[in-house]
Amino acid sequence: MGRYVQAMRVGILTGGGDCPGLNAVIRAVVKVGVRRFGHEHVGILHGWRGLLEHESIPLGMRDVSGILDRGGTILKSSRTNPLRDAETTQKALDGFAGLGLDALVALGGEDTLGAASRLHSDHGLPIIGVPKTIDNDLSGTDVTFGFDTAVQIVCGSIDRLHTTAESHDRVMVVEVMGRHTGWIALESGLAGGADYILIPEHQPDVPALLEMLHARHARGLDYSIVVVSEGVDLSDGSADGDLDEFGHARLAQQGVGDRLGAIIREATGFDTRVTVLGHVQRGGTPTARDRILATRFGTRAAEMVAEGLFGRMASLRGNTITDVPLAEAVGTLKTVPDDYYRLAQPFFG
Ligand code: F6P
Repeated sequence: MGRYVQAMRVGILTGGGDCPGLNAVIRAVVKVGVRRFGHEHVGILHGWRGLLEHESIPLGMRDVSGILDRGGTILKSSRTNPLRDAETTQKALDGFAGLGLDALVALGGEDTLGAASRLHSDHGLPIIGVPKTIDNDLSGTDVTFGFDTAVQIVCGSIDRLHTTAESHDRVMVVEVMGRHTGWIALESGLAGGADYILIPEHQPDVPALLEMLHARHARGLDYSIVVVSEGVDLSDGSADGDLDEFGHARLAQQGVGDRLGAIIREATGFDTRVTVLGHVQRGGTPTARDRILATRFGTRAAEMVAEGLFGRMASLRGNTITDVPLAEAVGTLKTVPDDYYRLAQPFFG
């Protein structure tokens, strides 16, 4: 255990895409912070934007009561980049000082925690990270909270799409989120019994997919489910497009599912439909597993504040909650290992 310091004033913010379990983390940071360490909490609204624009609310025990099962974030979110330029960075530093904070807990993914890491390393801000994203693409932790809920939602959707696929002898293409990694596609596809799964880490083999569809039909299986991750590059130049403040392409707007559906329709003549699950995957109540993971992460974050473990992120290793340097978490994307994809392949077709 590290050193314990006196009661502190702790800011909490949620950045990037909303994610089931954010409220459960906020609740845990506040409840544990108050009950075990006597900390006081400030909610910074709309992610880093709130720090720049001095948008904040007091966060007491009452404010975090009844939010464990609520999706989204009571603190709201944005994709604001506090390191956009020198002036913006200075505004963030001034915002931190202006709120009289002793520490900041940032709940976010690659972008939010990347900014947190640099605000700590380059400007000395006492920040602790909590790994949030439905994409599960953060290094430094085995799992991020929100991922389990997203997989559950997609798996349930695949189950439902099977009904129509079978009744109408259709190919159903399901486009799922995940940005540049295929965690959601692979796990939901495995759990939902998809007939083919395409992920960004694995070069798409469209001829193999078409052959599989023909082979199924030849066996009398006139329906198929194809799961495609939004980040799959079909090498038709479609990767270019609209960028967010952190320079990431808005993939869901680029329609890999629609293009794949058109390719299948044209090449096979099979009746093909495309479902883009979109933000449904991030919505609603977190699974019990995500509520527990979020509660464990929030508890660790409150302890890390008290122990002065700044510049680090709460992390899950095996079944143990620990912490790692923020820089390690945001250095490289955690991609789906090849052997995990290979595990799924015998179930294709
Ligand atoms: O990172 C979470 C995520 O849902 C990605 O899977 C997706 O590509 C992106 O956010 C969508 O972002 P937005 O909600 O800004 O459209």
